[in-house]
Amino acid sequence: MNTTTQTTHTGLPEGWFLRPAVARINTFLTGGTDHYKADRQLAGHLLRSAPWLTDMVTINQRHGPQAVTVLARELGITQFLDLGCGLPSSWSRAHERHEPALTYEAAVGVHAASRVIYVDNDPMVFALTRFLLEETATAALRADIRQIDELLNHHEIHDTLDPSQPIAVLAHDLLPWVDDEAATTAMAALRDWLPAGSAISITHASTDTDPQAMNSLIDHYAKAGITYRPRPLKQIQSLLGTWPPLPPGLVPTAQWRTGSIRCLPSAAHSHAYAAVITCPRTNRPSAGQQPTGPADPPSGPARGDLLNPPDDDA
Ligand SMILES: C[S@@+](CC[C@H](N)C(=O)[O-])C[C@H]1O[C@@H](n2cnc3c(N)ncnc32)[C@H](O)[C@@H]1O
Repeated sequence: MNTTTQTTHTGLPEGWFLRPAVARINTFLTGGTDHYKADRQLAGHLLRSAPWLTDMVTINQRHGPQAVTVLARELGITQFLDLGCGLPSSWSRAHERHEPALTYEAAVGVHAASRVIYVDNDPMVFALTRFLLEETATAALRADIRQIDELLNHHEIHDTLDPSQPIAVLAHDLLPWVDDEAATTAMAALRDWLPAGSAISITHASTDTDPQAMNSLIDHYAKAGITYRPRPLKQIQSLLGTWPPLPPGLVPTAQWRTGSIRCLPSAAHSHAYAAVITCPRTNRPSAGQQPTGPADPPSGPARGDLLNPPDDDA
């Protein structure tokens, strides 16, 4: 993707380290090393408004590899498109807990021949991901989900993923960083593009549980020039569309199949929902493409039961 922003000798946009970046703030909050003064300053404001923020980010980060393990084991998926992948600098902490820290680690833990492509619009994330992962069956792409058609048609995607086989798209804590129109367009394009047997895993910050603190976060990010759109459950549901979800449906992130994850912060600190939706057998097959994925998603409660508001379901 081309950018018209002036770049420095580092290849990063002018003044890049003087402005806070979401990926670096999350790394700071979870004990990683790749962050700068601007990130720490904004993180300080965020934490004063929402003292649970570190727990929220931790829950989300630890959910990622767990969701990948479920996608690989239950749906047999071996190809992963990790959108808005973030900085990989909190790996060591996950390793201390003997959990897979990365999409790639979790995927090959189930199927050794798995492939992953990491995508982010942050040039620093792109550079570090490409550098750190070059010896694995992974690729990295700098692209923006607000230009979803360009992203999905990029040769790096087609060089890495076989579009005739099921693909799992991860959109973990990604959609809140774009406006409603971009989020809706991206989700619709993904559902249209994915072959049968595929799945989309999302986590999405919500205004439902502590609207006042969330509104302060929105304001702090806005002052820093960053769009932040945590959404109510109903809006997140409508972004998911009509594909059936895996059990337990759309639930607070810390209640979605925690499996062997130990010592997770309180589920009340999720402040976000998680779901995996699965592509029905009849999705597009495009010209010459044979649907080869798992027959039907595993059966579970009816969709209406799965997407209940937290009062009924959590
Ligand atoms: C909160 S982090 C989530 C990181 C990781 N997915 C996780 O769950 O821990 C959001 C990531 O999305 C990236 N991002 C934000 N807006 C984006 C966009 N329009 N296109 C692609 N990536 C974007 C940010 O750079 C950041 O790395």
